[in-house]
Amino acid sequence: MKSAKKSVCIAGTGYVGLVAGSFFADKGFKVVCSTLDEHKVDIINSGKAPFYEKDLDPIVEKVVRSGMMRAVRGRIEAIRGSDLIFISVGTPSLPDGSCDLSFIKGVAEEIGKGVKECCDSPGVCGGHGYKVVVVRSTVIPGTTRNVVLPIIEKLSGKKAGKDFGICMSPEFLRQGDAVQDTYIPDRLVIGEHDEKSGEELLKFYRECYGKKVPILRMSMESAELVKYASNSLLATKISFTNEIANIAEKIEGIDVTEVMKGVGLDSRIGPKFLNAGAGFGGSCFPKDVKALMSFAKERGCETKILSSVMEVNAEQARHTVDLVERELGGLSGKTIAMLGLSFKPDTDDMREAPSVKMITRLLEAKAKVKAYDPVSMKSAEEYWLKGKNVEYAKSAEEALKGADAVIIATEWPVFKEIKPETFRKLMKNPLVIDGRRIYDTKEFSNGGVKCVGIGRK
Ligand code: UGA
Repeated sequence: MKSAKKSVCIAGTGYVGLVAGSFFADKGFKVVCSTLDEHKVDIINSGKAPFYEKDLDPIVEKVVRSGMMRAVRGRIEAIRGSDLIFISVGTPSLPDGSCDLSFIKGVAEEIGKGVKECCDSPGVCGGHGYKVVVVRSTVIPGTTRNVVLPIIEKLSGKKAGKDFGICMSPEFLRQGDAVQDTYIPDRLVIGEHDEKSGEELLKFYRECYGKKVPILRMSMESAELVKYASNSLLATKISFTNEIANIAEKIEGIDVTEVMKGVGLDSRIGPKFLNAGAGFGGSCFPKDVKALMSFAKERGCETKILSSVMEVNAEQARHTVDLVERELGGLSGKTIAMLGLSFKPDTDDMREAPSVKMITRLLEAKAKVKAYDPVSMKSAEEYWLKGKNVEYAKSAEEALKGADAVIIATEWPVFKEIKPETFRKLMKNPLVIDGRRIYDTKEFSNGGVKCVGIGRK
């Protein structure tokens, strides 16, 4: 029999899908996570996350143990028993920068079949006849209406807005902070096909979040663009800061961190995402900025700002290696330690990580690379840097031993703890290229270590 609380299906068990599923289950909703990967099913059902995400494991363990969440292989069983279906599958980049929609289309087909079955014989589906489909994956404007909806209508023979509901609700989770961003979001966005679909999702979100979180309702297309515009503006803030950092490096006495602190306290600008460094990486900013550019280009629209954002970012990893080269007077035969491989702390994800670009460049220049990262070394060795001649150290200290310079590529908290004397004692030449601006230059200089920070002469 159908319970009063909605049942939820999450299609896709990446960090977006699994964190959301765990959160909904933690709020008392029955959740079934559907994946095509048998291995992931076993891991989730044993109470663990199949990837590293800060603070996630205890929640997964709690909700799996209490029976509120389980994973299944395939889609149809999960779709059948649910009132709300969240699509959280990947939309990777194609070579031209546009999004690969094949995973989304595959899920939409399965949903179409499930909607038909449940509308025609609700008894078979435990009373879960009317369903609301929610696209959470990042998709270019028009995708929910022109791609997802027609597939579901065609395969179900049913009508959106009458027989089933459909919304687009982008997520704004940061990897590594996905749990916090899910439990305490700045806002939620509901792009609705029709009022009833929007009302249903609003009711569900209110049950999860109460009244404190602002919830905006708009068209599905606007919601789709909110996501791209947000990520592109955040990426713009970073590239803008890196451009200011490059200017700052030309003038004695300027420190970009001080400058951007002064800039960010203007409430019209805001203090976040103004940290200079080796550039942005990850599966989101580079992919989403490129996808928005490609979407605009197809419609004859120029994207001068976005092109510059990507150019400045590509330059930034190169620039960080140039700093090492300048300080050492050449790279050939030098041993460079790389502390940090993931694109940011608290994740093992190395997609578009500046470390990969920097290591590739160092190896091309015939330098020897010794790398250490608290969690990403396995994925580096087996995938991202596979076949590259990189030495993997067991600790930061081991990586530093005998090095001519060290590049800080990721601001893991453990690296912040390393004192100048450790660099001085272990390194052949105590030179730190602070690609994430985590050290106090003065303290390092007093401790006999040369620390070169991005954005400071
Ligand atoms: C980003 C957005 O922040 C999320 O809101 C969004 O939901 C997500 O993309 C997504 O589209 O799914 P994420 O890529 O996980 O999240 O991580 P961020 O914390 O945004 O960092 C991205 C990159 O920017 C990292 O390489 C980080 O080192 C770099 N960064 C960030 C800077 O170089 N400077 C900064 O000031 C901030």
